[in-house]
Amino acid sequence: MSFVKVASKDEIENGRGKVANIKGREVALLNDNGKLFAIENACKHVGGPLGEGSCGNGKVTCPWHSWTYDLKTGENTFDENIKLEIYEVKIKDEDVLVNIEAKGG
Ligand code: FES
Repeated sequence: MSFVKVASKDEIENGRGKVANIKGREVALLNDNGKLFAIENACKHVGGPLGEGSCGNGKVTCPWHSWTYDLKTGENTFDENIKLEIYEVKIKDEDVLVNIEAKGG
């Protein structure tokens, strides 16, 4: 599979995100100071939607109980053994594309 359009470039405010469904998989797309990251949406605690959380300084914060994850590695910032998948993001013209078969970072 290749890259799939998940958003327009200006659609997501700085510090926020959205949840995208790519072929049945939920992916959180987050805007950290103008750079876009794609990460597995479901928090490893009890499944909170990270795409509805907030982000900054390279981290996303879960909206449910505030666990945080590194946007580049997917690692939980308190326990590196807890890790989410991250995906490759590409900007093409006004579109944001994500490839769920490629690692991001
Ligand atoms: S579900 Fe994410 S911190 Fe609890």
